[in-house]
Amino acid sequence: MSSILVTGGAGYIGSHVARQLGERGERIVTLDNLSTGFRAAVLHGDLVVGDTGDAATVAQVLRDYGVDTVMHFAAHIIVPESVADPLKYYRNNTANTRTMLQCCVEAGVRHFVFSSTAAVYGIPASGVASEDTPTEPINPYGRSKLMSEWMLGDVAAATPLRYVALRYFNVAGADPGGRIGQSTPEATHLIKVACQHVIGKRDHVSIFGTDYDTPDGTGVRDYIHVEDLAAAHLNALDYLRAGGAPVTLNCGYGQGFSVREVLDCVASVAGRPLVIRTEPRRAGDPPMLVARAERIAKVLGWVPRHQDLRGIVASALAWERQLG
Ligand code: UFG
Repeated sequence: MSSILVTGGAGYIGSHVARQLGERGERIVTLDNLSTGFRAAVLHGDLVVGDTGDAATVAQVLRDYGVDTVMHFAAHIIVPESVADPLKYYRNNTANTRTMLQCCVEAGVRHFVFSSTAAVYGIPASGVASEDTPTEPINPYGRSKLMSEWMLGDVAAATPLRYVALRYFNVAGADPGGRIGQSTPEATHLIKVACQHVIGKRDHVSIFGTDYDTPDGTGVRDYIHVEDLAAAHLNALDYLRAGGAPVTLNCGYGQGFSVREVLDCVASVAGRPLVIRTEPRRAGDPPMLVARAERIAKVLGWVPRHQDLRGIVASALAWERQLG
């Protein structure tokens, strides 16, 4: 039986996908350098501690485990950091993806599932992005991922490798079983930060920008439960195994919530008001970024099961309390 290599499988999203793969009885191996991941998040299969930019290690793992599918999550993901240190992003996200692809082609890996991002769209005029919306990323993070999408397209055209690239919108929430979640202490994401405030790790939550051209003036995003996002990767695997053609798909619900709506929801789940400060806009934030989400349902047969902001927040808060 061939196996699946999960890079970044000790990180937030990778560990949820690996858990679902393991629960389904798939053979998996994780490659993670543990720079931001956690050994304890690897619940199934072996963990190889190593770097996606280390071709010798990657080639050996592909060979030793008879890898037929790669799911590539390992990446840096903080937009402001990418602005301050772009070469870090072009190395880890772009150059290392190139190394991964070269190793995959040489080893005859057939399937590649790639973690892309809604950040490839930049600031779409209507605030709603379909897969056909022009890609105009406004920061090095988005560009580092878009270049990887281009490489994938070119490699798939020239070799038998086929891929699914998923453009994630705003991922949040945690494993309903309480085993894994978003564990990065210095996370910048809204729901995570608000949950840290609820349990007393932060003394307030900031709203970055109250003067956007949105219904309540705050930024609007498409928040998706990590369990549904993870399930999309299993659908992508089935699609590729069934011979599906290379494809790039949005992964969101197609519904937007403002920062204030999210914070109201966190306060309601927590059962107490939050300490909120309003601050100027954060550089590089689009006013609104919501997915057109029909294509993924049609192409992969993806059926979201956790499409409820309250449920997302409740699971994120339960995990945050457990982290303590
Ligand atoms: N926000 C606050 N206060 C905070 C944190 C965030 O008001 O403490 C606001 C932001 O300004 C934005 C919204 O909440 O309007 C969501 O911000 P996040 O930082 O949670 O997420 P982003 O939308 O900035 O980023 C997400 C992914 C990125 C991806 C991007 C695509 O995390 O990886 O979407 O636009 F690049």
